[in-house]
Amino acid sequence: MKKVKAAIIGAGFIGKAHIEAVRRLGYVDIVAIGQSGQEKAEKYARELGVPKAYGNYIDLLRDEEIEVVHNCTPNHLHYEINKQTLLHGKHLLSEKPLTLTSEEAKELYLLAKQTALITGINFNYRQFPMVQHFKSMVKDHDLGHINLVRGSYLQDWLLYETDYNWRMEPEYGGPTRAISDIGSHLFDLVQYVTQLKIVEVLADTAIVIPKRYRPTQGTDPSQITNFDGLELVDVKTEDYCSVLVKFNNGARGVFTVSQVSAGKKNALELHLDGSRASGSWKQEEPFKLLKGYRDRPGETVLRDPNQVKREALPFLHYPSGHEEGWTDSLKNMMQHYYQAILKNETLFDSVATFRDGYEIMVINDAIIRSVRSGTWEKIELLP
Ligand SMILES: NC(=O)c1ccc[n+]([C@@H]2O[C@H](COP(=O)([O-])OP(=O)(O)OC[C@H]3O[C@@H](n4cnc5c(N)ncnc54)[C@H](O)[C@@H]3O)[C@@H](O)[C@H]2O)c1
Repeated sequence: MKKVKAAIIGAGFIGKAHIEAVRRLGYVDIVAIGQSGQEKAEKYARELGVPKAYGNYIDLLRDEEIEVVHNCTPNHLHYEINKQTLLHGKHLLSEKPLTLTSEEAKELYLLAKQTALITGINFNYRQFPMVQHFKSMVKDHDLGHINLVRGSYLQDWLLYETDYNWRMEPEYGGPTRAISDIGSHLFDLVQYVTQLKIVEVLADTAIVIPKRYRPTQGTDPSQITNFDGLELVDVKTEDYCSVLVKFNNGARGVFTVSQVSAGKKNALELHLDGSRASGSWKQEEPFKLLKGYRDRPGETVLRDPNQVKREALPFLHYPSGHEEGWTDSLKNMMQHYYQAILKNETLFDSVATFRDGYEIMVINDAIIRSVRSGTWEKIELLP
């Protein structure tokens, strides 16, 4: 069987996770790595057992052997690298958020639409079996009419004033931080599971730590890990945001994201309150989904082929009790993305499209407007 040839641009934290997940498929070869600088590219390629190394992504895109590109670079490079990848005729799996602005996202969405290339965004929480089960429960009206939607994504890795990362800097991370970094996952998950659209937002943000110690060395945003020299700088993006939300079916919602909540690691949670029952899923305990009723005891549905809905079956691979988690969601992501390339078919709906990524950026914009205006801001649904 001929293997698909892929390349990773930006082999940092998530780039390495892409490589591992892709290799688990068995029918895709990672043939090249792109990094900023030849020396670094060669070092990463050597360490990761990848044959080719490119210090400049344009040279990588000119390599005719490469069919698929994974863009795993920091946010500020998503637009340009994604655009050039499409213009060079390669399939593209981009990291989130799709771009820094909704204007850029719209341009990429329209550009991708004009091609036959397979494009996707790594909103990988869609790929958990119990998320698929949750989505099917909503579709089958097990919860009744969805009245209320509550969600949060809380972390603590930026709790101290000595915590620093390229995500802090608007030129690398974008005008928002907690909202675009983890809120983008939450909003995508909410809209995907409920199949509802967020149409209005009222948001409040806070820079909880207004000054942080930034390392003085390293211009590559990924190199802001060297604490030899430190300077105290103003923080320009939010550590925290809460948003009240209205959905297109009249449901109301409330969402909180934070990167300064001690003890919370990747506490992504989604709770739906319907007219018949409620449902709750937590990413840190991904193998179960809780259902609640007013007049009978609640239920716990386990990640077990005998308990989940048919639609969730392709997302679980091991017997229940042998848990599958975040890295398995990435494997599912790659499986569903690459199946579309192999079979020349449309994408599974579990893979977020550039349209979905554009929608998330439009929500991001409305949140920024609401924080500035102090009032509800409407979101225009995409045609
Ligand atoms: N889907 C997820 O769950 C998830 C998780 C983490 C990160 N992400 C996203 O992935 C992206 C990368 O995040 P990360 O945490 O891996 O960051 P990182 O800093 O660990 O890695 C970024 C990599 O890109 C490289 N790079 C920088 N400039 C480059 C250039 N010009 N050409 C090629 N490579 C370049 C860096 O050297 C580094 O290796 C971000 O957009 C982030 O939002 C997604």
